Amino acid sequence: QTLEMELEAIEKGGYDHFMIKEIFEQSKSIGDSMRGRLNAEAGHLQLGGLNQYLDRLVAAERIVIVGCGTSWHAGLVAEYLFEELARINVEVEYASEFRYRNPVIGKNDIVIAISQSGETADTLAAIELAKSKGATIFGVCNVVGSSIARATDAGAYTHAGPEIGVASTKAFTAQVTVLTLIAIATAKRKGTISEETYIQLLNELENIPEKVEQVFENAQKIKEIAFIFTYARNFIYLGRGLNFPVALEGALKLKEISYIHAEGYPAAEMKHGPIALIDEDMPVVFLATKDSSYEKIVSNIQEVKARKGRVIAIVTEGDSLIPPMVDFVIEVPKTHEILTPLVSVIPLQLLSYYIAVMRGRNVDQPRNLAKSVTVE
Ligand code: G6P
Repeated sequence: QTLEMELEAIEKGGYDHFMIKEIFEQSKSIGDSMRGRLNAEAGHLQLGGLNQYLDRLVAAERIVIVGCGTSWHAGLVAEYLFEELARINVEVEYASEFRYRNPVIGKNDIVIAISQSGETADTLAAIELAKSKGATIFGVCNVVGSSIARATDAGAYTHAGPEIGVASTKAFTAQVTVLTLIAIATAKRKGTISEETYIQLLNELENIPEKVEQVFENAQKIKEIAFIFTYARNFIYLGRGLNFPVALEGALKLKEISYIHAEGYPAAEMKHGPIALIDEDMPVVFLATKDSSYEKIVSNIQEVKARKGRVIAIVTEGDSLIPPMVDFVIEVPKTHEILTPLVSVIPLQLLSYYIAVMRGRNVDQPRNLAKSVTVE
C-alpha cells in the first residue's frame, strides 16, 4: 500500500493531483501532438496516417463526427474548422445516439471517431455501424493500439501521453490540435484557403504552446476567483462560434469534478431560457475573446449585468472595454481566431480544478464517473 502511494506520488511529479499535472502539461502535449507533422518555416504539414486518405477528405461532401463527453466537444470545435477552412458539411453526433438511430450513412461518407481512451463502447459501436454501411472511418485517439484505433481505416494519434485524471484536459487540447491539422491539410489540398492563411495558421500553431504557457501565469488569479465562487450552486458558461463548444467543455469540467450544476450555452441562445436564471447569485462565465463575435458577446455581457449576474470574462490580453463591465477578468493571449479554443479552454480547466479542490472533492476520481466507459 505505501509503496503504491509512493509510486503514485512520483507519477504525479510533485503535483497534488494528476489533473493539475495534466493541465500544466498542455504546453508540451500540444507541441507533441504536432511534432513531426508541422513545420511552419518550410510550409510543411503532413499527417502520416492520413496521406492515403487526404483526397477522400478533399472530395467529401459530408463528414460525420462521433464521440462522447469531452471528445464530442472536440468534435464540435472540428465542425467549425472543417466548415470554415475546408468548406465541408459536418455533423457531430453523440456516439450513443448515432448508434441507435437509423442514420443515413453510406460509402461516400467520412466518419471521424474521436476518443481519448479508444475504448468507449458507444463510440466503438458507432464505428462498427458506419463501417457496415460502407463509410470510411478515421480515428483520432490518444491510446495507441486501442480498440477504436484498430477498428478504423486510418487515423492520427493525439500523442498527448497517458491521461490519468478522469476529467479530460490535455487529451482535449491534443484532439483539437490534431483536428485542426487535418482541417488545414484538407483545406490546403482543396484550395479553400489562401497560401497566406495557410502559412499564418501554421506559424500560429507553432506559437500555441508558448501562449498556453502564458495562460498558466494567471493560475494564482484563477485560484482567487475560484475561492470566491467555491460555494456557488450553479454556473452558466456562454460563448459563441468556436467558443461555444469551449463553454460546453468548461461547464462539463465543473460538473464532473466539483459537482456544481453548470450549463454551457451559445450566448445568443441565452435569451430563450437561461436568462430567466440570472440574478445576483448566478455566476456567468463568458468566453469573450476578441474575435468575429466580440461585439455580440459584449452585448450579451451587458444583458447579464443588467440582471445583476456575476460575470467572469475570459478576454484577450489588453482588452479595455470588458474589464470595467464585469466582476472578474482572466486574460488569454491573442491568437488566430481558428485556434482560440486551445487557449480559451485552459482557464476554465483551472477554474474547475481549483473550485473542486476547495470543495474537498476527489478531483482525479470523481464519484460515479469512469475514465473510460467500456460498457453501455
Ligand atoms: C468518460 C470520461 C470523459 C470522456 C468520455 C469519452 O465519460 O470520463 O472524460 O470524455 O468518457 O471518452 P473517450 O475515451 O472516448 O474520449
